Amino acid sequence: MDNINIWSVNKNIINKVKKELVEKNHIGYRKHTYLLNTKKDEYSYTELYLKNLANYYINKIKTEPNDEYTIEFWYKEIMADKNGLHTDVDEYRRDITEKVIFPELSCVSYLDDNEFIPTIITDIDFDCFKYKKYSNENKVLINFPKNGTIITFDGSKYHGSLCIDDLQEMTSRKILVMNIWKNYIPKNLTYFKSNIKISSKNLDEELKIENITNINNIDLDDDKTLNWINFENYLYNHINCGFIEMINNELVKEEEKKISENDDDNNDTSVKMRTTYLFRYNKELSEKKRFKTLLDSNNLDDDIKLMQSIGLKENYKLNRFFQRFTKQGFLSEEICNWICADIECVTKEIGWQTKRHSKYPTTDNEIMLFPNIYKYMLQRMIELNIFIKDKYMINDDYNLNFKDIFIVKYECENDKQKSLELHIDHAIISGQILLNDNFEGGGTYFNDGLIVKPKKGDFLLHSSQIKHAGLPITKGKRYIIVFFIDLEKNK
Ligand SMILES: [Fe+2]
Ligand SMILES: [Fe+2]
Repeated sequence: MDNINIWSVNKNIINKVKKELVEKNHIGYRKHTYLLNTKKDEYSYTELYLKNLANYYINKIKTEPNDEYTIEFWYKEIMADKNGLHTDVDEYRRDITEKVIFPELSCVSYLDDNEFIPTIITDIDFDCFKYKKYSNENKVLINFPKNGTIITFDGSKYHGSLCIDDLQEMTSRKILVMNIWKNYIPKNLTYFKSNIKISSKNLDEELKIENITNINNIDLDDDKTLNWINFENYLYNHINCGFIEMINNELVKEEEKKISENDDDNNDTSVKMRTTYLFRYNKELSEKKRFKTLLDSNNLDDDIKLMQSIGLKENYKLNRFFQRFTKQGFLSEEICNWICADIECVTKEIGWQTKRHSKYPTTDNEIMLFPNIYKYMLQRMIELNIFIKDKYMINDDYNLNFKDIFIVKYECENDKQKSLELHIDHAIISGQILLNDNFEGGGTYFNDGLIVKPKKGDFLLHSSQIKHAGLPITKGKRYIIVFFIDLEKNK
């Protein structure tokens, strides 16, 4: 489509912007939607990044010298849009006066990769939508987030995001959205304020923007490809199954085309669009190919090399621990109550940490900060050790290394942590004990669809490498003891 462009920026600056926005908790649409003040003397990374981006695009779109532009932005960590596609308007003004005003340009910076929640952009405007005037001339583009890329488009046309894989519904995508308004200031917004001040010297390289040709895109513009009945169902009724199937079919076709065109070139990573099916399909194909190369080279005596080359090592690591187990009532009601009381008592003094784990932080404290609980748990470790080794059939050649034991708190209060998004833990085996039951919601979600809601005192054991999430609690506080365990070979 003509008005859609993709750009690349330096990942260093993207990382600095992400760090600033996350650390200062500028996360969320509406609550943290800001205007950008471009007339300051000093800027933070976020301000400088956006100012540079805005100037770059304004230079391209400016037609009259007297035109004034306003920059509005927000950072979101979201799961896919649940309500289908939308247009970008000044929502405050629309809600008060019913007048609809659109930005001149919408610009989405991707702050991480996402293979499951693409951006959907159409060329369907409000009139076209209202009177269903679209035809096969209209187009739909699917773009997959790639860290350090930006997509710019006309926000007055219908667009949004959609999860194309049921198993990934809890995954979120990190985007920084910037709208450029011409001769108009969106209502009811304040300027972004930051006490971070950086020198823009030597940042030229990091601020460089380059236009790149379509990567990670599929155009659903062929009459045969785009089934309008399915698309209409999605656009108007938010029924997305037919539309998702259509995207997945296209992904498989694209990938097949790439593989046949590019049979011997394993380095081509320009199109990485995987669905679950595609992932399996792809993996099988590349494993077969690698295995064949190895057979051809007559170099079969090196078992480890063979295992690595066909990806068995990784699979082994995952599959070996794939089963989940619980040990019901590992801690009694009384012990749980005592532990919870001790947690409340200790944390009144020492508070809670929120930055112990860098990528997916929880509100937690290491167990050593609770001397009484620590001492008690030490006494129970032999039992846990036997249980884990028994369940996963770990023989005496290996020891369990409990490399991190900590107490996590989820709390249903506005600014408190209620849940934890999909992630893997940096260990081989993870365990947790639920310490209380006077809360609502919660539980552990695994991305193969299993939801486990242990009872108070139960110990839950699972592979650290299965993606899992802490489901949001809706009332009260939920305390768990978490264990990260590695395997160490006996010397
Ligand atoms: Fe939007
Ligand atoms: Fe975890």
